[in-house]
Formats: sequence, structure tokens, C-alpha cells
Amino acid sequence: MTADQNPNEQTHAHTTAGTAADGRTIALVTGANKGIGYEIAVGLGALGWSVGVGARDDGRREAAVRRLTEDGVDAFGVPLDVTDDASVAAAARLIEERAGRLDVLVNNAGVTGAAPQEPTRVALDTVRTAVETNVIGVIRVTNALLPLLRRSASPRIVNMSSTVGSLTRQTTPGAETGPISAAYAASKTFLNAVTVQYAKELRDTGILINAGCPGYCATDLNGFRGVRTPQQGAAVAIRLASLPDGGPTGAFYDDEGVVPW
Ligand SMILES: NC(=O)c1ccc[n+]([C@@H]2O[C@H](COP(=O)([O-])OP(=O)(O)OC[C@H]3O[C@@H](n4cnc5c(N)ncnc54)[C@H](OP(=O)(O)O)[C@@H]3O)[C@@H](O)[C@H]2O)c1
Repeated sequence: MTADQNPNEQTHAHTTAGTAADGRTIALVTGANKGIGYEIAVGLGALGWSVGVGARDDGRREAAVRRLTEDGVDAFGVPLDVTDDASVAAAARLIEERAGRLDVLVNNAGVTGAAPQEPTRVALDTVRTAVETNVIGVIRVTNALLPLLRRSASPRIVNMSSTVGSLTRQTTPGAETGPISAAYAASKTFLNAVTVQYAKELRDTGILINAGCPGYCATDLNGFRGVRTPQQGAAVAIRLASLPDGGPTGAFYDDEGVVPW
């Protein structure tokens, strides 16, 4: 693998060149009130960036912003339900008024949906819920923020996906693929496909958009059964958020490197 393919070997665009003239890099992390999203906010804050904490619940958002601020992060709250058009539009207005642009968007918010998820037993509403948040939510947020991202010198979009969405892994005998799922896993496959389509459309814009898998992390999403920490899970998103100009786009990474589609 070349450095061109492996974000682990890249330097940070927003800590070197490429940061807009008026100072701090501006990032928005969706679902940043807890879990991996919170740790992504911690990591981006440690780079000296100003981090919008996107969260739908006022109390959880304010508590997260307070904790981040106490730890020295330049954090600000962004009320944001990724399934709600008006909420997402208001979030874009808030960032425009505060910063006038957005440099980095991390689409992290996600849900698993209820059990069962085997295709022969899954409730259609479970599929709808997973797709509405994990796919349509990402498109809704990305398109609302794109005008602000286009004003950035080095715009980056990171979509938090999962290796359970890898069709190559799902069809490789013996590969670890998680439970059979026509909702959560399939929604991440859908998200991966959408990521590729964005990369194709935006190829000549300087906007880099990639999918990242955090690995199996102990969070609310899985009843804290994951074996990695949320901080470990955040690392891939932090690297993809800070890719240098000319870095990879339309690819899928975890900590080990490229993940097959
Ligand atoms: N944990 C893992 O092992 C693992 C593995 C692979 C991929 N991932 C992916 O990593 C991302 C983060 O997962 P996590 O493990 O940190 O899960 P988590 O602890 O359950 O956090 C999920 C976050 O998404 C937010 N969210 C859910 N629906 C939302 C909505 N409609 N609008 C705005 N925010 C919403 C949640 O907010 P509330 O607090 O309001 O619910 C929460 O902040 C997800 O995309 C997940 O699919 C996780």
C-alpha cells in the first residue's frame, strides 16, 4: 500500500497548510454527545480545531460541550437531529452565522435499529429507521452543509461506516461480519455506496470524502460489548478528517488500512 492509499501515513492538512485565513479549522461531528462521536470531538479539539457538537438532545449536548470545554476543547453546541429537515437546516444556519464556512464534516450519528434483523424476520420499520438515520441522514446533513464546505480551503467529509457493511467481507467464508442483518449492516453497505457516489461527483472540487470503520468499540450501540475503546474507534475518523490536499477520496478505511467494499 502506498502513502497515497493509506491515511495513516498522511500529514494533517489543517494543522499545516490549507486552513482558512481566519484561523481555526471548523469541524462538525454529528452524534457527538457520547461514544465514538464524543471521542472524535476530543481528538479534533486536540488538533486546535473548533468543534461543533451535533446532538439532538439539549441536555446531553450541553453536558458534552461542558465536558469538552473543561478539557480545553473549543467546542460549541449544534442542535441536530439528522432525520429532521428543519433541524439540519437550522444547524447549517448556526454554523454559517458562527463561522461562515465549514472545513470538516464527520457524519458519525448512527443507530442499529431493533432486533430481529435477519432478512426473513425483520420489521420493515427497523429497516426504515436504520436507513433513515445511517444513510438518508448522512445525505441530508452533507447536502445542507456542502455550501459551507465549498467555502473551505481543504474540505473533508468522513462517513462513519462499519466493516459489517463490506459485501466482500460478508461473502468471504470465515470472515468476522457480525450478526446477519438486513437493517444495520445493509444500511452501512448503502452508506458506502453513497460515499463512492459523492466522491465521484465531487472529484474535481478538492472535497475529500471517505468512509471509516472504528472497529468493534464498547458503546451504547452494542450494549458496551465492543472490545475497543471509543477513543481507539475515533482514531480513523480523526485521520480521515485531517487528510492533506490531494489525499485519497472515495475509499473505506479502518486502522489497518483499506477495507474492501
Ligand atoms: N460501536 C461500534 O462498535 C461501531 C462499529 C462500527 C461502526 N460504528 C459506527 O460509529 C458511529 C458511532 O457509534 P457509537 O458506537 O459511538 O454509538 P452510540 O454510542 O450509540 O452513539 C451514537 C450517536 O449517534 C446519535 N444519534 C443517533 N440518532 C441520531 C439522530 N437522529 N440525530 C442525531 N444524532 C443521532 C446518538 O445520539 P443520542 O444520544 O441522542 O441517541 C449518539 O450521539 C455510528 O455511525 C456507528 O454505526 C460503531
